[in-house]
Amino acid sequence: MTALTGLIGYPVSHSLSPRIHDFWIKEHGLDAAYKLFTTAPARLRQTMLHMRKKEVRGVNITIPHKQAVMEYLDDTDANARAIGAVNTVTNRDGKFVGSNTDAYGFITNLREGLTGKPDGDIANYLQHVVVLGAGGATRAIIVALQQAGAKTITLTNRSFDKAQILANHFNLTALPWEVRAEALSEATLLVNTTSLGMAGHPPLELGLSALPKSAAVHDIVYAPLETPLLFAAAKQGHQTVDGLGMLLYQAQAAFELWHGVKPKVTKALRDHVLEPHHG
Ligand code: ATR
Repeated sequence: MTALTGLIGYPVSHSLSPRIHDFWIKEHGLDAAYKLFTTAPARLRQTMLHMRKKEVRGVNITIPHKQAVMEYLDDTDANARAIGAVNTVTNRDGKFVGSNTDAYGFITNLREGLTGKPDGDIANYLQHVVVLGAGGATRAIIVALQQAGAKTITLTNRSFDKAQILANHFNLTALPWEVRAEALSEATLLVNTTSLGMAGHPPLELGLSALPKSAAVHDIVYAPLETPLLFAAAKQGHQTVDGLGMLLYQAQAAFELWHGVKPKVTKALRDHVLEPHHG
């Protein structure tokens, strides 16, 4: 029987995940499929019941369901619980188990971007990390940074209360959005987790003059690949890491959970995913 996998979210029609999973399904010669399940919030329960009836091998979960889906699962792993969100559900002999592969995706992309190796040593960059944003992706990123051994993390967000809640929960420092530029003076790594700089969104306004030259700049936004932030950072001589690999590596971990093989993240995959007007 074809192993059915896919993505539940709202909206999902522009997702790149089918391209990634279809590429690996073909590469590994698997009898499997990856489908999009557009699901408005009020229909999540029905969709999850449908997933059980269809005996799916697993599904990815995206906006706006990453927290709400937990109600419809039989179990969650430690990472999903620490993050408080699920992006991958795996059917284990009829039991739906929730995981979160976003943290792995984030840190693996960062390691690869900074060292050329997905398991490279980035301890130097984890001395003083400044994180911008306190939205949907931020919790997984904080957990990933802490698990990787980040010494200090400073969080700043337009809505200060949201930064404060995360700071209390994860034992970090929260700073007002207005002082974000000054907060960079000791940073070894700057991470943008806001939607600013994404196509169709305003750019991130942030002067980088206080940022030490040895600091790296990472943007989790991947459309465009080179955001205005990364462009400005590269111009000033900073090492930069784009966000596409986070998407690819979270998919790698999900694929391995479902199919039992760890697919490779290669240049061929990147090119395939970035190809315009892909059918
Ligand atoms: P959500 O907060 O609903 O999870 P998200 O898209 O995951 O939404 O996160 C959006 C992030 O980008 C948030 O950190 C948001 O800041 P607020 O918490 O203050 O909303 C940030 N963001 C979006 N637009 C912004 C803007 N114009 N200026 C500053 N930050 C912005």
